[in-house]
Amino acid sequence: MTAQATDLPGPAALVRLRGVSTHFPVRSGFFGSLVGSPSAWVKAVDGVDLDIYPGEVFGVVGESGSGKTTLGRTILRLVEPMAGSVEYDGEDIAHWNEARLRPLRRQIQLVFQDPNAALNPAMTIGEGVAHPLRIHGLATSRADARRQAAEMLERVGIAPAGAFLDRYPDDLSGGQKQRVVIARALITRPRLVVADEPVAMLDMSVRAMILELMLDLQREFGLTYVFITHDLATAKFVCDRIAIMYLGKVVETGAAAPIYARPAHPYTTSLLGAVPRPDPSRRTRTKELPAGEVPDAVDPPRGCRFHPRCPKAFEPCGWEGRDVRDLFEARWAADPTAHERESPIVGPLGRVSVSPDAAVFPRGGERLRGLLEQLRAEAPDSGIWSAVRSISTDGGAVVVRFGPGPEPALQDVDHRQVACHLHGVTEAGAGR
Ligand SMILES: Nc1ncnc2c1ncn2[C@@H]1O[C@H](COP(=O)(O)OP(=O)(O)O)[C@@H](O)[C@H]1O
Ligand code: SF4
Ligand SMILES: [Mg+2]
Repeated sequence: MTAQATDLPGPAALVRLRGVSTHFPVRSGFFGSLVGSPSAWVKAVDGVDLDIYPGEVFGVVGESGSGKTTLGRTILRLVEPMAGSVEYDGEDIAHWNEARLRPLRRQIQLVFQDPNAALNPAMTIGEGVAHPLRIHGLATSRADARRQAAEMLERVGIAPAGAFLDRYPDDLSGGQKQRVVIARALITRPRLVVADEPVAMLDMSVRAMILELMLDLQREFGLTYVFITHDLATAKFVCDRIAIMYLGKVVETGAAAPIYARPAHPYTTSLLGAVPRPDPSRRTRTKELPAGEVPDAVDPPRGCRFHPRCPKAFEPCGWEGRDVRDLFEARWAADPTAHERESPIVGPLGRVSVSPDAAVFPRGGERLRGLLEQLRAEAPDSGIWSAVRSISTDGGAVVVRFGPGPEPALQDVDHRQVACHLHGVTEAGAGR
């Protein structure tokens, strides 16, 4: 492991991502898959900037669904991003076709999560490990391929290799299979290895050994790793630098040690288990973590994507329809006379329909609109009202609409980069 300080001039990045977005079409129904354009997109990776330096272990960390695998597949160009640049060794490979990528494929390799799915059960261990040599023309003969495979197998701890070359994956334990997968990834002598949750499916008892092996191999072969994991403890053990992802975005990135010691993004703090107490003075609704699911990447929350779950959310972070309902709930709970006065005008709160950008009261008409305008006039620039764009009537219904709120951009904070308004309100894309 070599330390790579973020704030010192160092070598040129091996991988440099700028504004990378990889979205997948959501198609509905059988015919939807054949005709027309998709109606919606899963924003799996959405505007990511990263630099990965030669010789480092770079961790990509986040909950399931945050876009880690898609980011790894984009770096490997197993999927083509719809926007941004993916520079490998100074060349933008974002839109190279397969023929052009081919010579690069031996330099950038993947270690999968599931060794059972990664190994062809019909190929012997020797054939499987030697297979990439054949694809890339790196062996002079069958005997040479077998010799190279044996050498690499011994190096990853499958020894004596002679006893394993002619056996099949099914004869091996999970840990042994993953060693074989690692041997196959390294046999082409790659520069970059993307390891996607490489120990997540292994027994606890062998995880540490496989991680130690990966680190030994990294030093011995001078490898650069992109290490994908949902497990912060694993990342702490192996990574020099990390990027924390949430819903397709990097929310905090920098050297691992200071991020673990002093997380600067509320999401990182929550992942680390040090859940901050909600600060009631900042917002009308208290939020808890880890309560709440990761929202849908098809329609991420406006403003800061983390705001519906963030215990520190405040005015600029983003507001949505349900906050109007919560406002009345809180008001009425605090003041029974307000409840008496206002509930006949507002009607049952359960019937208010809410979405990320609006709350619709089914009835109430001009009287309700007047009440809402009056509440807004009392504090036009604070809390929920700072984000309300319009209050209008539609027949008897009353519609409260919200603006999006600025989307936090990465900014330098305490020797790392953090996307959170607590460190100064910024807007994503403003600098590009
Ligand atoms: N090939 C695909 N087609 C459609 N949606 C996908 C595809 N791959 C991933 N997704 C979606 O993209 C989001 C991110 O997924 P993924 O990159 O696998 O995240 P992670 O590895 O962090 O769990 C998820 O909502 C997932 O359902
Ligand atoms: S910008 Fe920061 S404080 Fe606001 S919701 Fe997002 S993470 Fe929380
Ligand atoms: Mg994944």
